[in-house]
Amino acid sequence: MPSINVAVLVGSLRKESINLKLARAVERLAAAELKFNYLKIGELPLYTQEFDAAYPPACQRLKQAIEASDAVLFVTPEYNRSIPGVLKNAIDIASRPWGTNSFAGKPGAVIGASVGSAGTSMAQQHLRNVLAYLDIPTLPQPEIFLHFKEGMFDSEGRIENADTQKFLQGFVDRYVAWVKRFRKWIKNFPLRK
Ligand code: FNR
Repeated sequence: MPSINVAVLVGSLRKESINLKLARAVERLAAAELKFNYLKIGELPLYTQEFDAAYPPACQRLKQAIEASDAVLFVTPEYNRSIPGVLKNAIDIASRPWGTNSFAGKPGAVIGASVGSAGTSMAQQHLRNVLAYLDIPTLPQPEIFLHFKEGMFDSEGRIENADTQKFLQGFVDRYVAWVKRFRKWIKNFPLRK
């Protein structure tokens, strides 16, 4: 039975998303240790600071799901050399109201796939800036900038190519070790106000 609960934010709403396929492939490789909870970020309203007076129920549910998790995983496409708006919106919602950042101290990682050869590297770099501010200890290496090719994964997340499988398994092993190392971190070292 997997013992670590991971809140997964996929930055694409597309049914045929290659990033969702990548998330499923990682989930399959990590099944012994990690339980994935895919957060429904496409159903969230667009954040406005007016929410802070009375947070909408969908936004509260997002925050609760993150707070109940041991770790977070961001699986993102690159849109115009940054992350998609839908992902930034979800992050902004979970980070507020001020003083209630749901991500604080949750160990995290960023991975992504693109049809372009630069494979989401710019988007991931932008995202890492945001995650640092949100107090998410984010796995530094290995970086997963996956240059997606047709047939790389089947719909169940099975990986055809042995080299790709090995590459992603390396990420999974490191991520599991990272989460185990950091999951009690926030309790031991809360930020002083
Ligand atoms: C893209 N795409 C893209 N790819 C990339 O490598 N760098 C980029 O900056 C962009 N910019 C971009 C902007 C917009 C608005 C779209 C719709 C697409 C291509 C992108 O990698 C491709 O559409 C992926 O398939 C998107 O990921 P999902 O939806 O399949 O997970």
